[in-house]
Amino acid sequence: MAHHTLYRDGDGAVILDQTRLPFGLDHRRLQRLEDAAGAIRGMQVRGAPLIGATAACGVALAMQTDASDAGLDSALDVLGATRPTAVNLHWALARMRAALSALRAAERVAAAWSEFEAICAEDVATNAAIGRHGLELIRDHASARGDRPVRVMTHCNAGWLATLGHGTALAPIYAAHDAGIAVEVWVSETRPRNQGLLTAWELRDGGVAHRLIADNAAGLLMSRGEVDLVITGADRVAANGDTANKVGTYLKALAARDNGIPFYIAAPRSTIDHDCPSGTDIPIEERDGDEVRHVHGIAAGKAGVVAIAPPEAAVANPAFDVTPARLITAIITEVGMFPPERLQRLAAGGIR
Ligand code: MRU
Repeated sequence: MAHHTLYRDGDGAVILDQTRLPFGLDHRRLQRLEDAAGAIRGMQVRGAPLIGATAACGVALAMQTDASDAGLDSALDVLGATRPTAVNLHWALARMRAALSALRAAERVAAAWSEFEAICAEDVATNAAIGRHGLELIRDHASARGDRPVRVMTHCNAGWLATLGHGTALAPIYAAHDAGIAVEVWVSETRPRNQGLLTAWELRDGGVAHRLIADNAAGLLMSRGEVDLVITGADRVAANGDTANKVGTYLKALAARDNGIPFYIAAPRSTIDHDCPSGTDIPIEERDGDEVRHVHGIAAGKAGVVAIAPPEAAVANPAFDVTPARLITAIITEVGMFPPERLQRLAAGGIR
């Protein structure tokens, strides 16, 4: 992992703009609240933990312009409305509110940057802990498989591009690779925004064996016995364990269940929404229909957009789906692995 997705730089911040990946890597400076909000809305930064940290950064930027109570409230409102599904956004904003609201305006800028940096540092540590817990799982599979690689399927991008550290779903894979365990990753392209291409780019960069597949190939590979386990990330886990993740995750969980393949979610506790009773309460983002009507790519060395449906084609573009808890083997968090039904008990017991 050679790049940072987001870091403070003096009175601003720098993001790795993901919109040209896997063909181009850009960095962009965030100087104002609207830069941070626009980066989240436009998916220059994406992935639940990174969205949360960028929102925290947006609050720090806003405080530099207007650190009054009204300025704080308005920054929290603007950032809170950028994307609806990933609860890490609201988690990070709640943290910023708690850290700043009792302070005098003059103290808020320094405190906001310090809370932002704490959120980033914690995410790095959280990713590492998820990696350690997931590594044990992959190690168990490796001993059962003998000398052939453990074949993990993932969906979307829950690697370092989506976080401040090594990722959530990819953290156990990187940890296994670093520990010398042979892993091979099935990466589904994840139409319409193709975040799987980011995962393939990351894995290639990290030297981890993988193959990119069309989303629709997942069921066949599972039915042929070519998948040992599935690990995906999450954007919001409800209190009962129902989990919203990138659209297409649910179909993988169904196919995994039908084929007796364990299905894991890897997510920090900041992705668990204890106030959301079940998956039906999770708001699902509906995105612009042109994401379905168009594909982005490179032709003759030039980046471009190609229409695959006429502009008047009626489309629907839900960006996430909900996998019911009954299809989830366990949720890998920074404090260990929890089957969905234990998640609720542990929250009540104070591990939150
Ligand atoms: O819409 P995105 O790209 O922000 O999607 C979010 C995700 O990256 C995924 O759903 C991911 O699996 C969970 S976030 C680590």
